Parts: sequence; C-alpha cells; structure tokens
Amino acid sequence: MEQFRTTFEKMLRTRVPLADNVIRYFLDRRGKQLRPILTILSAKVLRGTVTDETIYGAVAVEMLHNASLMHDDVVDNSAERRGMPTINRVWDNRVAVLTGDFFLAKCLMCSNATGSVEISRILGRMVTALVEGELEQLSNARSHLLSEDAYFSVIKGKTASLFSACLQIGAHSVGASEEEVQKMGEIGEKIGLIFQIRDDIFDYFPSNAEIGKPTGHDIMEGKVTLPLLYALQQATAEKTKQIKEILSLNRELTESVALELVDFAKQMGGIEYAQACMKKIAFEAKQLLHTFPETDCLTAFVRIVDYFIDRSH
Ligand code: FPP
Ligand code: MG
Repeated sequence: MEQFRTTFEKMLRTRVPLADNVIRYFLDRRGKQLRPILTILSAKVLRGTVTDETIYGAVAVEMLHNASLMHDDVVDNSAERRGMPTINRVWDNRVAVLTGDFFLAKCLMCSNATGSVEISRILGRMVTALVEGELEQLSNARSHLLSEDAYFSVIKGKTASLFSACLQIGAHSVGASEEEVQKMGEIGEKIGLIFQIRDDIFDYFPSNAEIGKPTGHDIMEGKVTLPLLYALQQATAEKTKQIKEILSLNRELTESVALELVDFAKQMGGIEYAQACMKKIAFEAKQLLHTFPETDCLTAFVRIVDYFIDRSH
C-alpha cells in the first residue's frame, strides 16, 4: 500500500492550481481504498508477491473509482459525500466533471504504464459495464421498472464490475493463468454485489458522518433498492398497487413519503432479506476463495468478505 500511495500521489501532480485544490479537497477525506487493497491481495493470494504491474493496476482502479464518484455526484446532484460537501456544491458541475475527467485520464496513463494489453482490456470492459449500469439505473427509474432481476443487473454493472476488474488485474499482474483470472473475477463480482447491497441498506437508516447521506435519499431519487423491492413482493396486492402509484409519480418524492416507504420496507422484513442475500453471496465467494492456497493473505481476504457485510460506513 505504501508503493501504491507513492505512485498515486506522483500521478496526480498538475500544473494547474485549481485542479490541485480540488484534488486535495477531495482526497482529504480519503476513502477506504478497498479497490487497491483488493487488487494487491489478489496478486498476493495467487503468487505471494506484487509487481510494478500490480501497483499501476491498483492506481488505475483507484483513479477510475474517484472519477466515477465525481461524475456520480453530478449525475445524482448530490450535496454531500463522505460527510463533506461535494465538488459540485463547493465549486460547480463543470469543475466536478472536468476533475473526474482528469482522474479518468490518469487511469488511462496508469493502464498504459502496466504495459499490459490485457489489463487495458479489463479496464475498458469494466468502464463500459460501469457506465451501462448507470444508464440502466436511470432507465429503470424512468420507466418505474421494479424487479429484483433489474436491480441485480444494475448493481452488477455499476459496482460489481469494478471489484471484479480489481481482482482480475491483480491476478493478471502476477502472470496468473486464464482460469485463475476468471475465478478471481467471479469472486470480485460477488463481493461487489455484497458491497452495493450493504451500501443500499445504509439508505434505510440515519447515516453517520462517513456516509453523509440523509435517510431515504435513494428512494427520493427514484432508486428502489433490494429491501423495498422485497417488501413490494411480500405486501398485499392493494398495498403494492398503492406504493407503485406513489413511485410512478413523475417528480421527486418528499422526504416524509420516502421515510414512510423506508418504514414499510423495514416492517416487511426487507432489511433481513437483503442481509440474507449478502450472506448467501458471501458463502459462495468464500467457497471460491478456499480453492486457493491457505495463506495469511487468503485469511485476510476472507475477513474482508465478512467486513463487507458488517461495515458501518
Ligand atoms: C455510486 O452509486 C456510483 C457508482 C457505483 C458508479 C458511478 C459511475 C458513473 C457515474 C460513470 C462514471 C464514468 C466515468 C467514465 C468515470 P450510488 O449513487 O448508488 O452511490 P453513492 O451513495 O456513493 O452516491
Ligand atoms: Mg450517487
């Protein structure tokens, strides 16, 4: 991680003071850096070591992750991230989009620095899936499509694709076989699904400073996530119809309506259902992980899977 941090910092140097200010501001509340950690762990689980390719690969995924958050806050018109005002709030949409572009460009440069055509291919496929997931989410919200299949398709694209790419890149960077890369990709997809389901559950509870989002924010935006989808399947036909009508009003819902829907999802056991889904996927991910040699790195990896379910921010 020290090597990762040094390269990450080096890649972010810019001659433009505005860019530097925005970058410093955003990175001041650094995230958990789960994606580079996972990229490195994938390499270490397979070969017990990392290469320069692993480090540039880890920096590339972190750059892309940051780019996607900056763009996402413009797309979602969000006011806060990680408990701080977003770039689009402190500056404006133009600054947020362009700084996101800057990070995207740095991802391309890191991809190039790995010298691996295969890693570029993994990154290219992942960014496509990420953007398609976001567009699919918008499209589902517009057409009020409420199904678990549609939900899983969206989160596979917008979140799981990045985790899958991290593990594939880590594996590829140490010369893993095609089969190993593919298996790591599958594990990454599963933990990415867990990550997003957990993220979506946060929306049903008052948030802490690290998350910095009001309860019911997703629902207000028309994003119907797993707990509420489950509740809609369980409720009486009449109740379901009533809620679908509320959700298909073509305007942003008020906070009090969103909070009512949050309560309804909870009463119907939506949170427990989403938690059970995460546990089932975690079990599958761990089964795949245990096909690799039992080392300390593997133990750390398995603990990260549990952390993804239990995390508080
Ligand atoms: C957070 O989801 C956002 C994502 C998982 C991905 C966003 C991706 C894009 C906007 C495409 C970016 C494209 C390029 C080329 C960089 P969320 O809104 O559910 O979660 P949040 O609570 O963290 O905002
Ligand atoms: Mg968002």
